Amino acid sequence: MAEIVIVRDKAEAGALVADEIAGLIRADPEAVLGLATGSTPLPVYEALRPRLQGVDVSRVRGFALDEYVGIDPAHPESYRSVITREVVEPLGLDPSRIRTPDGSPEGIEHHGDEYEAAIVEAGGIDLQILGIGTDGHIGFNEPGSSFASITRVKTLTEQTRRDNARFFDSIEDVPMHCITQGLGTILRARHLVLLAFGEGKAAAVAGAVEGPVTASLPGSAIQLHPHATVVVDEAAASHLTRAGYYRYAYANKPDWQGL
Ligand code: GLP
Repeated sequence: MAEIVIVRDKAEAGALVADEIAGLIRADPEAVLGLATGSTPLPVYEALRPRLQGVDVSRVRGFALDEYVGIDPAHPESYRSVITREVVEPLGLDPSRIRTPDGSPEGIEHHGDEYEAAIVEAGGIDLQILGIGTDGHIGFNEPGSSFASITRVKTLTEQTRRDNARFFDSIEDVPMHCITQGLGTILRARHLVLLAFGEGKAAAVAGAVEGPVTASLPGSAIQLHPHATVVVDEAAASHLTRAGYYRYAYANKPDWQGL
């Protein structure tokens, strides 16, 4: 099962995950990071900044999970822009080594395969950061997504478009389609780190961690991964039935294990 780490707040989560990522980059300057958008990973990116001072990040590679189809890449809410603003610029990464799926409609039917090939060519993703949608989606793999899926175009659910309308002027402006790494792609990353904060994520977290493994809750795919870590605050952990055990296991974790 995934390791569940229940933390006090976002800052503690950010520090914990940033320590792991900074250690990874120090050990391997060519580390390949799987980057997530949304509000959830922001504390990780913030905490990474001081930890990467003086560290050579010039060869770090990164692959974003997803992108909207048909959005102008220069739009402030395109995931290309978000990753540039929140990750690439503040951390001083080389933009040419950080990719987002290509959401331009022209040739879209090939963009998924091209993205998969680029990930393989980079040697695979070492650590994949994940948030989770209120409907249990990871990346933009909406309920029903195949566990074997690879990067491809998906239609967003109404719920996801409503959730993401806060980034746009209105729900009508939220694109209908996206291109996202598949659950199969995500499961090939060597370490998954899923973060979630707040009561609104509690049901999705409980389903992903303790519910049946089902395509109806795509986040439950993490139960199939040999090295998955779930970092949640008290509110996001509030529907977990075995929280006591997770705290006990983490408190008694052997030092050599790391995150
Ligand atoms: C979006 C992204 C997901 C993200 C989710 C949750 O739909 N495609 O990768 O995990 O929203 O967003 P937030 O972290 O803002 O709650």
